[in-house]
Parts: sequence; C-alpha cells; structure tokens
Amino acid sequence: MQRIQELHERISMLYQQLTLSGENILHIERPQPLEMLDIDCLLVKGENLHSLARLLSSRDSVFDFCYIDPPYNTGNAFIYEDRRFGNFTSVWGKHSKWMSFMLPRLTLAHELLNEQGVIAISIDDYEYAYLKILMDAIFGPDHYIATLIVNRSKNGKGSKPHVAVNHEYVVLYGRSPSSILHGLPEADSSSYGKSDEHGIFKIDGLFRKKGEGSLREDRPSMFYPLYFDEGGVVYTERVHERLKETYPIDSKGIERRWLWGKEKATQESWKLYASPKGVVYVKNYLTDGKRIKIRSIWDDARYLTERATNEVKHIFGDKVFETPKPLGLLEDLLSCAAGPNSLILDFFAGTGTTAHAAFSLNQKDGGHRKVVLMEQKAKIPMDHIARSHGFSEISDLTEFRLANIKQNASSYKYATVDII
Ligand SMILES: C[S@@+](CC[C@H](N)C(=O)[O-])C[C@H]1O[C@@H](n2cnc3c(N)ncnc32)[C@H](O)[C@@H]1O
Repeated sequence: MQRIQELHERISMLYQQLTLSGENILHIERPQPLEMLDIDCLLVKGENLHSLARLLSSRDSVFDFCYIDPPYNTGNAFIYEDRRFGNFTSVWGKHSKWMSFMLPRLTLAHELLNEQGVIAISIDDYEYAYLKILMDAIFGPDHYIATLIVNRSKNGKGSKPHVAVNHEYVVLYGRSPSSILHGLPEADSSSYGKSDEHGIFKIDGLFRKKGEGSLREDRPSMFYPLYFDEGGVVYTERVHERLKETYPIDSKGIERRWLWGKEKATQESWKLYASPKGVVYVKNYLTDGKRIKIRSIWDDARYLTERATNEVKHIFGDKVFETPKPLGLLEDLLSCAAGPNSLILDFFAGTGTTAHAAFSLNQKDGGHRKVVLMEQKAKIPMDHIARSHGFSEISDLTEFRLANIKQNASSYKYATVDII
C-alpha cells in the first residue's frame, strides 16, 4: 500500500514539475492480485491506467520488455480517440493534454519493468520531443538508449508542403544501466569474404586502439612490433627473414598502442590479420547464432506500414484498423530486446501485433516469451468498417487476433480478463 502511495505522490510531483493540466485519473487502489496463468498471452481489457495500476500492485517489476505504440495525437478519426490537444496556457501548449495522458501510464510502466528491463515506444514527429521530455523525467536521461528511425513507407505522407515524411521513431530507454539489448541475428553472411581453418571471417575491426587511452604513453607495454607475411598471417616474433614489421602508428604518424598485450597477442595471433600495408585487424568470425549491434536506421520492407495493413487484411478479412504495426518490426524489436524467456508488456495493444510477433519468434527460436496485452473496451464508431465485420469494442479486435493464432497453432494458450 505504501508503495502505491509513494507512486501516487511521485506522479503528482511529476505533474507539478511539468505543470501539466488535464485529466485526473489517479485512483490507484490496492486491488486483488491479477493471476498470470500458464499461458502465452493475457489480454487485459479496459482502461490501461487501471490495468497497469492493478498489475503493479499484484506483480511488482516483473516485465523484461515493454513495447507501446500509443495514439500519436494526429487528430485523425481513427477507430480509437486520437485527438488530445490542450490549450496554450502551459509551457507545453497544445501538447499538454497528450503529456498528461501519457505521464501516469509511463510512470507505471517504469515501475513494472525489472532492473534489466527495456521499453520501446513508437512515435512520430508530432509528439517525439514531448515524449522525450516525459521519458527523461520518468526513466532518467542517463537511461536513454537510442532513437531508432524506421522507414515506414516508400513515398511518405503527402500532408506536408515541402517534405514527404516517410519515417517514424522507436524510442528506447532502459530501466537501469544494466538494461541490455541483444542485437539482431547477422543476416548478411556475404560480407564475410575471407576464410581460414577456424571459419569464415571479415576484416572490420582495427587491432590498433582508437580514441581515448590509445596513445603509446597510455599503455607503453602495448606498443610493440608485430610481423606479417604476404598472406596476412601475423606473428609476435620475427620467425623468418621475409616477414615485414609493423607498429601501431596511425595514418598521421601518431604512435598509439595495440588492443592486447604481447602475451595475449602471441597466444591468439591466429585471430589477427595484416593487410599488405601492415594494418592489423582482429578477425571477425561468423559464428552460429551470431548477433550484431542494431543500427539506428531501420530500413527494411518488413517494417513498412503497407505490410502491416496487408497483414491486418489477411487476418481480419478487411482493413479493420487504421494504424497497425508490421509483424516484422515487432519481431525484430523483440528479438533484440526480449530474450527467449521474457515477459513482455504492451498496454496499447490495438490488433495485438506484439503478441503475434512473440508467438512467431517463439516458433522460430524455440523461446517461451509471454505477453500481457492491454486494450480498451471503447465502442467502435457505428460507421467504422470494423462494425460491418461484427466487432463492437476495440478489444474484440485484439482478442480476434489471438483466436486466429490459436486456430493455426492449437497449443497456443491465451486468456482474457476485464478490468472495470
Ligand atoms: C496506435 S494503436 C496500437 C496499434 C498496435 N501497435 C497494432 O499493431 O495494432 C493504439 C491503441 O491503443 C489503444 N488505447 C488508447 N488509449 C487507451 C487506453 N487509455 N487504454 C487502453 N487502450 C488504449 C487504442 O484503442 C489503440 O488500439
């Protein structure tokens, strides 16, 4: 109870600090524990602020990864409310209402993530800066990991006069400095153009230290000669006369140092390769299941919104939802941020892409990722196309997708719970 009280105070304090005005929705009471059954996905139907608060009091800080795709505040008439424009009396201007909406939800999400947890948030230009301010206030600027730029369409939107914007963002924060990303599987083996008796490898990392602490005087014992032959084989002693000598001296003639001491270099010299000019590299071998650091620009046909629309049409038989995310984008986000046994949270679930991606990734890598989805029971507008397909509440769409997964994989287990 005290914890919830503290949280309540913290949110109120943040409200004051940010001088936000808006809805007052902080009725956080101690509810009954919400049991997580032995299932692949739990769909919590209802207002996500209440669902998050309930989850917090029953399950403290259990989530490894949280992905959300909140309303972007476009003002468009979607199946869900996407118009939250405040007045200009506060410093946040029109954005204050959207910030007030997001702040308590993000605060609760922060509390629900475990120490290594990571959160990924989709957003576009309109609220990006305001989201960043909220996240810095709640998660802390030191826990900001990166902003990914995702190419979402080939031609971009035509609504701006001078630029056809075809990207959006995924903002990543960690719960603590120990939050990690696992990278993505190396997809392009064609760049591994060299081979030796240890496997195929590429040359992309200098053995000469760069940047801070890289000078000879920083580590004098790591400045020593290396010898190499015409085939690029590296030795720490001149074992025969024809070998050429090289030192860690850069192109400007500055004396730097190697990455390893002479003893390690002698034992592991097979991992080194020298170019004909005597530049020494550490071989980068292609190993089974090798993962590489993610890049900040995500550009792949699997991330295009038109993909997501086609996926929705395929599953639901029509375009029953305007803003779905593509399965490929979620699969890759989960792959790098949610390990095989992760517990994942998405509290703006929409059509349930996150659960679908977790299922699909589990199929591929034998993982046991479990997902908690939250989606509101808001009534779908009478004239919306989803109505003609028999859906009356938005969370019906989420549930339909889960049922669809189960139809194709009978062992898939999901449950739903209503939060009032
Ligand atoms: C941008 S959509 C998410 C789409 C989703 N990523 C997908 O792939 O289908 C945002 C979703 O959040 C839901 N939502 C908005 N406000 C909510 C609230 N207060 N509680 C629960 N769900 C909410 C909307 O109904 C909508 O389905």
